[in-house]
Amino acid sequence: MFTATDFIPKKYTSTIENGNFEWSAPSNIALVKYWGKKDNQIPANPSVSFTLNNCKTITKLGFEKRDISPEVSGPLNVTSFSFDLLFEGKPKEDFKPKIQKFLERIEVYLPFLKNYHFTIDTQNTFPHSSGIASSASGMAALAMNFMSLERALNPEMTNEYFYRKASFLARLGSGSACRSVKGNVVVWGNQANIGGSSDLFGVEFPHTIHANFKNYQDTILLVDKGEKQVSSTVGHDLMHNHPYAERRFAQAHENLDKLTAIFESGNLDEFIKVVESEALTLHAMMMTSMPYFILMKPNTLQIINAIWKFRNETQIPVCFTLDAGANVHVLYPENVSDKVLQFIQDELVVFCQNGQYICDQIGEGAIAL
Ligand code: DP6
Repeated sequence: MFTATDFIPKKYTSTIENGNFEWSAPSNIALVKYWGKKDNQIPANPSVSFTLNNCKTITKLGFEKRDISPEVSGPLNVTSFSFDLLFEGKPKEDFKPKIQKFLERIEVYLPFLKNYHFTIDTQNTFPHSSGIASSASGMAALAMNFMSLERALNPEMTNEYFYRKASFLARLGSGSACRSVKGNVVVWGNQANIGGSSDLFGVEFPHTIHANFKNYQDTILLVDKGEKQVSSTVGHDLMHNHPYAERRFAQAHENLDKLTAIFESGNLDEFIKVVESEALTLHAMMMTSMPYFILMKPNTLQIINAIWKFRNETQIPVCFTLDAGANVHVLYPENVSDKVLQFIQDELVVFCQNGQYICDQIGEGAIAL
């Protein structure tokens, strides 16, 4: 079993003065939801997600060794990190505290961080403030870049260690980010029947996945693009002392076992039951927190009801899931794409803000550019 100390490096064998790396990392959509955590970003229950393909963050990391010899530079404050943050090429001060916090959390695992000045240049393929969380793709893309730098310092590093530690670091930035390093189906959190699963990082789902899930589609309906009233961080925190927390965490294990069997059998009716129940349970946890809150909007419910009606009438296996917001992810197999897209056009687009939606599908994970 891995422990966090396995990710504290020993001596580096190489040096590097400056350079840059560039990675893209996708967003992911959870089927069994992560909601509730312990200290150090340890999840209260295991989760599983589809890695997406089109919704991505692309991050370039420039790095340059800082001159920290006192004779040359004077009393340089090496107790602080040095980085510039650019979003779509322009300085973005309001993202800096989040990155600062991330660097503080990962420094023990990447002890070289204060030796360099970094330029982090990041952009998303999906519209800014679309209500799509960019923290998963963003933290994953940044973690990949830092691992590229660590690999330059330790060229003997195995690929396995590279990806595992990238996911481990991404988790410390944002829990769900650890599921964005790899594709197509990723499990995060200890689960008895899933060998290799860990609370510390995401792993590729190790068992058979039926052809029904190949190129599974996710059309993201943008219902509300405004700032969320309650952040995920606050929401996770409200699972402490939540009256239904223990039962919910147990249920997540049960649902992950069910999905494991469903991935093998390809039974889409059963898939739909687990996935929709997970989505509504997530929001039920929000509604039964103290303080309680609601992230769904009237149009979220309109869409859910329209999907149920369409599914009843056509027997087409389309379902929905939700993350911590009002947007709806419409999930369906590739072979019914035409019919479902027509349905979305005809009946669901009216419920989207400015008629906007994003077509995505299951994908492979982070890519070096
Ligand atoms: C509802 O990963 O955004 O999307 O670890 O605090 O950054 P932090 O939370 P975050 O929470 C995601 C919650 C979710 C469910 C999920 O993706 O599993």
